[in-house]
Amino acid sequence: MTAEPVPGAEPASATVPFGATSQLPAVGTLRLPARIHVGYGTRAQLPVIAAIHGRRVLAVVDPFLTGTPFYTELIGGMTDAGLDVRVYSDITPELPVGTLDAAGRTARDFGPDVIVAIGGGSALDAAKLIALLAAHGGPLAGYYGENLVPGPVVPIVALPTTAGTGSEVTPVAVVSDPARELKVGISSPFLVPAAAIVDPELTLAVPASVTAFSGIDALVHAVESYTAREFDLDLGATLPVFTGQNALIAPIALRAAAHLGPWLPRAVEEPGNRQARHEVALGALLGGIAFGATGTHLCHAVQYPLGALTKTPHGLGTGLMLPYVLDTIRDAPGTAARIADLDTALGGPTRDRVVEINRRIGVPATLADLGVTRDQLPHIAELALASKRLIAIAPVDPEPEILLDLLHRAFEGVLR
Ligand SMILES: NC(=O)c1ccc[n+]([C@@H]2O[C@H](COP(=O)([O-])OP(=O)(O)OC[C@H]3O[C@@H](n4cnc5c(N)ncnc54)[C@H](O)[C@@H]3O)[C@@H](O)[C@H]2O)c1
Ligand SMILES: [Fe+2]
Repeated sequence: MTAEPVPGAEPASATVPFGATSQLPAVGTLRLPARIHVGYGTRAQLPVIAAIHGRRVLAVVDPFLTGTPFYTELIGGMTDAGLDVRVYSDITPELPVGTLDAAGRTARDFGPDVIVAIGGGSALDAAKLIALLAAHGGPLAGYYGENLVPGPVVPIVALPTTAGTGSEVTPVAVVSDPARELKVGISSPFLVPAAAIVDPELTLAVPASVTAFSGIDALVHAVESYTAREFDLDLGATLPVFTGQNALIAPIALRAAAHLGPWLPRAVEEPGNRQARHEVALGALLGGIAFGATGTHLCHAVQYPLGALTKTPHGLGTGLMLPYVLDTIRDAPGTAARIADLDTALGGPTRDRVVEINRRIGVPATLADLGVTRDQLPHIAELALASKRLIAIAPVDPEPEILLDLLHRAFEGVLR
């Protein structure tokens, strides 16, 4: 029997703050795959889930996988289930847009009912873009930016083999275009895969540096999502892909941080630790759900020019920047309470915990360590500020001097 509400009393949920101190935003938005499976053994679901969409399967497969027993298991499993599987594994690092346009034309001729994506974030992003091209034709340059995908793409079933990007659940894919200085994103709710199968078994053999850099990027996703600005959305218009802080996401972002904080260093130090691999895969998945709705902000805005300049992995740049970004945003309105929640999730002061995690997993401490020179900082700041959508999600106002101050501290290793 349920107790009668006491007349005049506030329902508990209206007054109990979320986490330690901060309140949930008033409005929420969440766009997700129809199915998400996570845990050891879930890859066995692949044939059943692929067959939901039809018989013709285009498998977009990370090249590393072709020499492993997983290839036989996963591709053979679908063939044994009577599916007509064609494999594409010509994934070029950094995803140059020309290679994808060509792959898209081939895919369009094949006419797949479903695209199965197996691999790291690069392979998953490639599959998402091939699914876009197979449905709507090219060139990809016509879709750069937000909300320019005209309708549903070929359904994607995504199986990540790294733990980090969250691409298996996000509405975005990133490519490089020789005509542009920075990597460029295509974001649309239509790019959210139809299903995600996150089996940590697939990540057990990930090299330490990939574990470290993709894993720290996931923690950055969680922290940037949880500290995102809250927007006053126009609820009568097409919503932006990334909506800023919202009510459905906050608890997920915190959970992501709680899984990743203690377990990422363990996964790097003990690659065969099955629980660590599980926790990091789960944290990365939750981090992807979180930032896929809210967006990310300053670490990512800086990483794009930094990555282009230093040719370093995405997560190395975002992870390196995180302690300095936390110092930049901590006095922004409402942010102290959010960081206090993250402190609880991480079991200690967030900034210090991140510094410690970076040290343990081999993320360099300063921009100088990456070979960046002081005279390059203004140009990095200028390009970061040009990422207007990312900058807008930061909880601080995007003044050029704030960016320059951030970069100088990251250059010199000054923590406040
Ligand atoms: N779409 C998104 O939401 C999103 C988010 C963040 C980053 N990204 C993009 O994702 C890319 C980075 O992805 P990533 O960190 O997964 O790296 P990655 O996909 O580039 O893979 C790194 C290397 O690890 C190999 N690899 C992958 N899985 C392996 C395994 N299980 N065992 C052994 N080797 C393995 C790959 O073949 C590759 O050589 C970047 O291009 C970034 O722009 C996308
Ligand atoms: Fe990222």
